Amino acid sequence: MTEKLKREKMMRNYMSQLALGLKPYTPGEQPKDKTYIKLNTNENPYPPSEIVKTAIYGAMDKLRLYPDPEATELRETISDYFNRQDKDGSARLTAENVFVGNGSDEVLAFAFPAFFTARSIVFPNVTYSFYPVYANLFQTQYREIPLREDFSIKVEDYTSLSQKVSDLSGILLSNPNAPTGRSLTRDEIAQIVASNPDSVVVIDEAYIDFGGQSVVDLVPLYDNLLVVQTLSKSRSLAGLRVGFAIGSETLIQALNRVKNSFNSYTIDRLAMEGAKAAILDETHFDATRNSIILTRERVSARLADLDFNVLPSKANFLFITHKTKPASALFSGLRKKGVLVRYFDKPLIDNFLRVTIGTDEEMDVFLKCMEELIIESGNS
Ligand SMILES: Cc1ncc(COP(=O)(O)O)c(C=O)c1O
Repeated sequence: MTEKLKREKMMRNYMSQLALGLKPYTPGEQPKDKTYIKLNTNENPYPPSEIVKTAIYGAMDKLRLYPDPEATELRETISDYFNRQDKDGSARLTAENVFVGNGSDEVLAFAFPAFFTARSIVFPNVTYSFYPVYANLFQTQYREIPLREDFSIKVEDYTSLSQKVSDLSGILLSNPNAPTGRSLTRDEIAQIVASNPDSVVVIDEAYIDFGGQSVVDLVPLYDNLLVVQTLSKSRSLAGLRVGFAIGSETLIQALNRVKNSFNSYTIDRLAMEGAKAAILDETHFDATRNSIILTRERVSARLADLDFNVLPSKANFLFITHKTKPASALFSGLRKKGVLVRYFDKPLIDNFLRVTIGTDEEMDVFLKCMEELIIESGNS
């Protein structure tokens, strides 16, 4: 029997029907062959603050002990943070409105068995590609709603949806959307949440701190709103794996039921202390996200000069397409020059590149490589 046939036989024998049928998510490359300028996974180019490093180091002595399964201090730090942000003082969040997970991916994954399994959800046809993967894993029917031609979300497509989609249990929107970077306003999301009172509306705010309007302050007003955020992007902690959700006590309880049926300790001691320190260090947070926003605007303007169509972005990445040069060729050309960006070989977006905003120095190298590629291919 050939190796291939043997492997196939073992797969059929040992894997469940569920595992056999899965099409897992493909994360952006984490290359090991050489050092690249990494603009492909929307990581933050700036390191976490010294305060975070000290907090993580300080937690090491207690590593022999299990962490708090309820992550109470971290949840309090998060609810206090949002109460401080709310200028008119109407926010009334407590730790009971907060759920924390091992990255926001885990929070989003738990949302499926907590709210959606065996029922239907909707999300846009161009969005975070983990959503359909979770839907398949957790046996949830999904309908993809087409974006407009300019990749914006048409709000009316999402209002009063229960009249249009049978057995609707939820709406999943990334705001700003990934990989487009386009965003909805707070009022537009409020309209969607208010007009679908019997469905859970999950707003994935992974990139919200780079200029979008958060809807966390709407949580006390709507029991069906769950806002998911992460410390991976604006707080430079992708490697620590901490994400969280803010919602009504009922929604948070549902997430806890799922989590506690799966793993009591999803957040380790180092992650717990590092995350608390990162949320408290608002100075570092503001300085680094403001740098990223400034760099984004500078790079957008320069790319427009180079004949790129640059979608308006409120995220730490740009979604771009060139008037004449195919995205796939630019992607390989950049890779050869040591710059990694993200290319999705998928319908509708296969002529686009998603470029994470790095430091000014990294983006200067990126722009220089792009200029060279455009000149080189122009002459060929
Ligand atoms: C839209 C969106 N949501 C969620 C995540 C997950 O982030 P993490 O699991 O690192 O919190 C990502 C990561 O790239 C993302 O792009």
